[in-house]
Amino acid sequence: MVVLRAGLCPGLTEDMIQLLRANGIRTVVDFVSSDMEDVAQKCSLSYKALVAVRRVLLAQFSAFPANGADLYEELKSSMAILPTGSPSLDKLLDSGLYTGEVTELMGAPGSGKTQVCLGIAASVSLGLKQHVLFLDSTGGFTASRLYQMLQARTEDEEEQLEALQRIQVVRAFDIYEMLSALQDLRDRLSQQVVSSMGPLKVVVIDSVSAVIYPLLGGKQSEGLAIMMQLAKELKTLAREFSLAVVVTNQVTRDSSTGLLKPALGRSWSFVPSTRVLLESKEATWEKVTTQRVASLAKSPRQPTGIQVELDIGNFEAREPSPATPTQGL
Ligand SMILES: Nc1ncnc2c1ncn2[C@@H]1O[C@H](COP(=O)(O)OP(=O)(O)O)[C@@H](O)[C@H]1O
Ligand SMILES: [Mg+2]
Repeated sequence: MVVLRAGLCPGLTEDMIQLLRANGIRTVVDFVSSDMEDVAQKCSLSYKALVAVRRVLLAQFSAFPANGADLYEELKSSMAILPTGSPSLDKLLDSGLYTGEVTELMGAPGSGKTQVCLGIAASVSLGLKQHVLFLDSTGGFTASRLYQMLQARTEDEEEQLEALQRIQVVRAFDIYEMLSALQDLRDRLSQQVVSSMGPLKVVVIDSVSAVIYPLLGGKQSEGLAIMMQLAKELKTLAREFSLAVVVTNQVTRDSSTGLLKPALGRSWSFVPSTRVLLESKEATWEKVTTQRVASLAKSPRQPTGIQVELDIGNFEAREPSPATPTQGL
């Protein structure tokens, strides 16, 4: 379901969209399936202009076969790659976070998932001057940690403050609050009510497992259905509004191989296009360090198994280690 928005096709102006919306026409399907004469009358819009827009929308959104070159052009115009703030993580992700995709960070508690999410928020907000929505379901979002990161990047207090203001935090401690926060976001983005948010590029959900786990205990099928609703919403938000969606997930140990694997099972595994496993370098937790190893467990662009080292303490990376494939992540 594609929501009508300015820039979707030539001639479709913001004023036009407001008038259409006021008359219950919100999506492309609503629009193309309406009677244009009717719409022209109800919305006091030019019939000719409406027919022209309809023709373009039909051409754009019909299931015409598209060729590779057209798809590539479309991709280039709508896609952005956002640096995470860690050069070595960027290298693992083939330059950074891709808009239109869901990227998952997984790891045991303390592996640095929240720290990396905060680093991403700091980097996008300060470096790119773009807005970030941080959905916190574990209470892990700590303004002081974020502030420290911003201070490490710039001494300019005004810049730090502006960057903090571009990061919006919503606490959602169960799946229903989470879905409602996402619905809210969809409404604001589709109505282009971004005044309080500005250009949004990244949505962080830390963590998805925390809100999904409680569902999977009882009536499995119901829980699974709600999980897939969240999955669909994240994927469509990413694609429709060119957002980079970052989610965090727990890990479990595979009983047969002894290796760490992402929680939430097979159905969820299709949601993120990219999955990164964070692990401590130390064999034991006695010596707490900020050194971590990030391994690529799934990627549409890079070979899985490649690893890099990163320091979650100052979120500045060391030189990546040579690619060392590992198995069964
Ligand atoms: N406020 C803080 N300041 C500095 N380090 C912290 C703070 N909170 C947590 N840490 C440390 O950062 C590391 C990563 O924690 P975190 O990112 O919260 O992991 P995860 O989200 O994977 O559970 C841990 O070693 C943790 O002890
Ligand atoms: Mg955390």
